[in-house]
Amino acid sequence: MQDPAQIEIRDTLDGLTAARIATLYRRAPLLRQTDHPEKLRESFEQSQLVLSAWVGERLVGIARVLTDGYQVSYLCDLAVEPDLQGVGLGKRLIDEVLTRVKGTELVLRDSNLSTGFYEHLGFTPVENGWMRRA
Ligand SMILES: CC(C)(COP(=O)(O)OP(=O)(O)OC[C@H]1O[C@@H](n2cnc3c(N)ncnc32)[C@H](O)[C@@H]1OP(=O)(O)O)[C@@H](O)C(=O)NCCC(=O)NCCS
Repeated sequence: MQDPAQIEIRDTLDGLTAARIATLYRRAPLLRQTDHPEKLRESFEQSQLVLSAWVGERLVGIARVLTDGYQVSYLCDLAVEPDLQGVGLGKRLIDEVLTRVKGTELVLRDSNLSTGFYEHLGFTPVENGWMRRA
């Protein structure tokens, strides 16, 4: 079992290649399109907050956030490598996100793979959400 203390959190895009991101998303799995990894990488460049978790040079976790820094933040993606799930890394990434976007409402779309996780971390369900693909 990996010692969680050995996992380093970084807040730059250094080392976040398109291939590494796509591999993590497929493995987690995160239900996002990964067939155009270069577009995935571009989406990271367009995001205000990207936290990545590393064991040495191995990418093991990601949290990506859009935020206005004032009122609203959107957690776009959260993913942890399967062999490191359950050691507290997802919570650590969320705690760090909450610190960085303090004062805003952090909203997100859940997946049936993470049911219970957000409630366990103190999130409350949003009843009045709508979406339309543009
Ligand atoms: C969901 C995910 C990010 C959780 O990360 P993780 O590192 O495995 O979770 P952690 O180890 O940090 O868990 C933190 C706490 O949440 C709890 N927890 C984790 N998953 C849970 C679940 N599905 N239901 C309820 N509680 C859960 C843990 O038991 C732990 O509790 P504790 O602090 O009381 O011990 C990770 O499993 C993942 O990447 N899943 C696949 C991709 C995905 O679904 N992403 C989210 C899309 S919205």
